[in-house]
Amino acid sequence: MNGSIGISVVGCGYWGPNLVRNFTSLPECHVKKVCDLAPERLAYIQRLYPGVEVTTSFQAILDEDDIDAVAIATPVSTHFSLAKQALQAGKHVLIEKPMASSVAECQELMELAATKDRIIMAGHTFIYSSPVRLIKKIVDAGDLGDIYYISSQRLNLGLFQKDINVTWDLAPHDISIILFLIGQDPVSVNCRGNAHINANVEDVTSLTMEFPNKTFSMIQSSWLDPNKVRRMTIVGSKKMLLYDDNEPLEKIKLYDKRVETPPHYDTFAEFQYSYHYGDVHIPYIKQAEPLKILAQHFLECILTGSKPETSGLEGMQVVKILVAASESLKRGGGKVDLSKSPLLSSKTMPGYQDTENTAAVAEARGRQERLQEV
Ligand SMILES: NC(=O)c1ccc[n+]([C@@H]2O[C@H](COP(=O)([O-])OP(=O)(O)OC[C@H]3O[C@@H](n4cnc5c(N)ncnc54)[C@H](O)[C@@H]3O)[C@@H](O)[C@H]2O)c1
Repeated sequence: MNGSIGISVVGCGYWGPNLVRNFTSLPECHVKKVCDLAPERLAYIQRLYPGVEVTTSFQAILDEDDIDAVAIATPVSTHFSLAKQALQAGKHVLIEKPMASSVAECQELMELAATKDRIIMAGHTFIYSSPVRLIKKIVDAGDLGDIYYISSQRLNLGLFQKDINVTWDLAPHDISIILFLIGQDPVSVNCRGNAHINANVEDVTSLTMEFPNKTFSMIQSSWLDPNKVRRMTIVGSKKMLLYDDNEPLEKIKLYDKRVETPPHYDTFAEFQYSYHYGDVHIPYIKQAEPLKILAQHFLECILTGSKPETSGLEGMQVVKILVAASESLKRGGGKVDLSKSPLLSSKTMPGYQDTENTAAVAEARGRQERLQEV
């Protein structure tokens, strides 16, 4: 690498242009080439950034020595193949959420990145947002007490996707935030939903995760709602917190509210709940674009060789839950017990036995067994 890091953004539909905008604003890098299969998307990028070269050929990106890193913002089904080729060509990769279509694919990408000594980072944007960082501080300081449950709603009218259901499209944000806040993997996942508009593509789902300490989370995802909603409520034993990402300034409200039960009572008449109503605190949050911080962090990791906060492992954890959610949906909302499935619960073992990826899982499992023999 000579001086500034050469970046290529692959996929310039809805999200890719935001990556181009942020990377072009950072002095540590230059956006060398943008790739998309659709010429009209490339024409759009060229109008905005006349200095950036464009191409429909991904091979041209792989062949270009000046390109050190590739940011992938294409449909999920293409993430694995594009990221694998980029890593094999010696490029660092930033992969938009969800990182891949199966746990085995994530595992393979992580192994390849390790072999090639390249950075692999999952584009979990919200982990780099100021409100989420502040909530993490509040939770870690114990201000909320024990977390009883987290409920999250991410709803809007559209944007409908054809290849993935609404859980795979929207819930990665909520899952990544919840895992970040709780700091543990769930022990089980349930997911129910319905496909109203496109057959077999659920547009409304409800995903629940249960954690080892009985903490519980509910994620509602919908492309069929009259209002755009981005809300998360965290209920703790001491305080409750509301995070509304649609609020321009007052995104976090910390409620000094709780319910206490008497420590000791002999008769039902003596039993009384004590409801505590205190102040509502609205902390000041410094405005910063999360995607810019994410892009900066990716560059920093390339320069220093340090592990990203949302590395391949965090990407795989989210995919693991999405795969379990798909399995639960197939079973009409049945519980998928992650603790009973070593392949799912282990952080280092490959994939969940999803029917579409049986061969990949078998291959990855063989690789894991070979690693254990060494
Ligand atoms: N982090 C976030 O907040 C966020 C927000 C939206 C979308 N995303 C993610 O970004 C990715 C893209 O989503 P989108 O909404 O922009 O999709 P999109 O369909 O609008 O755009 C995808 C683009 O990729 C191009 N493409 C497809 N296959 C390609 C290939 N093999 N090589 C080059 N280009 C190819 C398409 O022509 C299209 O222009 C998804 O993974 C999505 O989940 C992330």
